Amino acid sequence: MTVIHKIKELREFLNLYIRDDKSIGFVPTMGALHSGHCDLIKRSSAENDITVVSIFVNPIQFGKNEDFDTYPRTLAEDCKIAAKSGANIVFAPAENDMFKGGIVSYVDVENLQSNLCGLKRPGHFRGVCTIVAKFFNIVKPNKAYFGKKDIQQLTIIQKMTDDLNFDVQIIPCDIVREQDGLAMSSRNRYLSDSERAHSLVLSTMLKRAVEQIDGGQISSQKVINMIKDGFNAIESLKIDYVSIVNKQMEDVDTISNGDIIALAVFIGKTRLIDNHIIGEPVCF
Ligand code: PAJ
Repeated sequence: MTVIHKIKELREFLNLYIRDDKSIGFVPTMGALHSGHCDLIKRSSAENDITVVSIFVNPIQFGKNEDFDTYPRTLAEDCKIAAKSGANIVFAPAENDMFKGGIVSYVDVENLQSNLCGLKRPGHFRGVCTIVAKFFNIVKPNKAYFGKKDIQQLTIIQKMTDDLNFDVQIIPCDIVREQDGLAMSSRNRYLSDSERAHSLVLSTMLKRAVEQIDGGQISSQKVINMIKDGFNAIESLKIDYVSIVNKQMEDVDTISNGDIIALAVFIGKTRLIDNHIIGEPVCF
């Protein structure tokens, strides 16, 4: 596996493969790799001739009071994990290569972000779309892999790709969880032992919600209230949002298949998100 830091070098390297008509799979990440990332890398490696994993903690997707400074940066360990999972290239650019003298051009998907994380983290998805668009132009992948863990991100990236005619197929990948149900996240490593124990409430409440819905409950508000009651029982937990939305990320009154139960909470200072698409197999 090769580690490349410079855009120019990556382009030269990849051009050799593009010339030979090799397919390129791309897995964009911010590093601190875990089994969720590995799943994406393994899938890409199985479906493409060559797999590029980017590792870049993207400053323009973090809000002022968010965790950009403390976000885990573990490049050496990440490279080992990426290699084991089948990556051929880790692309870890420096900020000043990605943003040279500062950028003034952004990609903003106007719809789909007035709810959930888009509402709670203004500017976040503009930062995500801009960096992903830049990576698409640099890597020129045939397929790009995104986790359903960040379901709003995946939906917005899909729309951006369609709207701007990026010649790349977006491949959604299932959420990977710890054995006890907690969705894997780079931010899980912020959790103290007691916070880690409390974090189980996310998957537990998703499970209860699915049980209610399977039992015939179709009132979105009733399911949301049940989830909120579960959350409010935990002192160290602050609700950011509990929503049930359709594929357009709009709140629904009546639940139907394909709708999404979407959760975001702070446990202590750590923000955790999780979701479940109604009708999809339960994995917690
Ligand atoms: P990051 O949080 O590192 O996630 C990289 C990719 O891994 C995303 O597509 C995310 O959905 C996926 N992922 C994370 N946890 C997962 C899990 N438990 N199961 C399955 N997939 C999981 O998302 C970002 O980085 C950034 O916003 C990025 C797209 C790289 C742009 O900066």
